[in-house]
Amino acid sequence: MKRVLFGLTVSAAVAVLAGCGTSGMGSSSPAASASASTGAGMAGVAKAAAALQPKSGTNTTGRVTFDQQSGGVMVVVAVTGLPPGTSHGFHVHEKGDCSAPDAMSAGGHFNPTGKPHGQMTMADHHAGDMNNLTADASGNARVQFLMPDVTVAPGPNSVVGRAVVIHKDPDDYRTQPTGNSGGRIACGVVAAS
Ligand code: CU
Ligand code: ZN
Repeated sequence: MKRVLFGLTVSAAVAVLAGCGTSGMGSSSPAASASASTGAGMAGVAKAAAALQPKSGTNTTGRVTFDQQSGGVMVVVAVTGLPPGTSHGFHVHEKGDCSAPDAMSAGGHFNPTGKPHGQMTMADHHAGDMNNLTADASGNARVQFLMPDVTVAPGPNSVVGRAVVIHKDPDDYRTQPTGNSGGRIACGVVAAS
């Protein structure tokens, strides 16, 4: 009986000490937990992907993933079946419809802000404009980059419900509004994942 009482007394003392410690550090605690919960909220709607299917009679396939980060959307591309050593126009297009054999059903470049076509690094470019995709000697292309003007989360600039298109020829980053990159050799609808 005496041991049990002693134990309770020690527990109570520890609880009081812990309480003193917490209130002493109180000023920095609320701010830290507030920013942590904001980050967790964004992570819930942060990923999407497109499976690229061959179009216009090619064997080009691949996968593109989109991951929302603080400075934009991180895009990871893995494509196979390209003509070896060639460069190809590569864009997010406005319609999530790859049903046509030539992928024309995907519409024009995704352009929610009404800008001219251009390169990602130029002041003016469509939100869906990406750099040319270049195949290695085996016809594979693997690249990773940040897209500054789109989101994965729902909103006017979201890539979800749009399409990713690979073209036959390189984008010249000048010709309006297409970049003159020719026919469409692969297409995939972007879906949340
Ligand atoms: Cu395109
Ligand atoms: Zn464009």
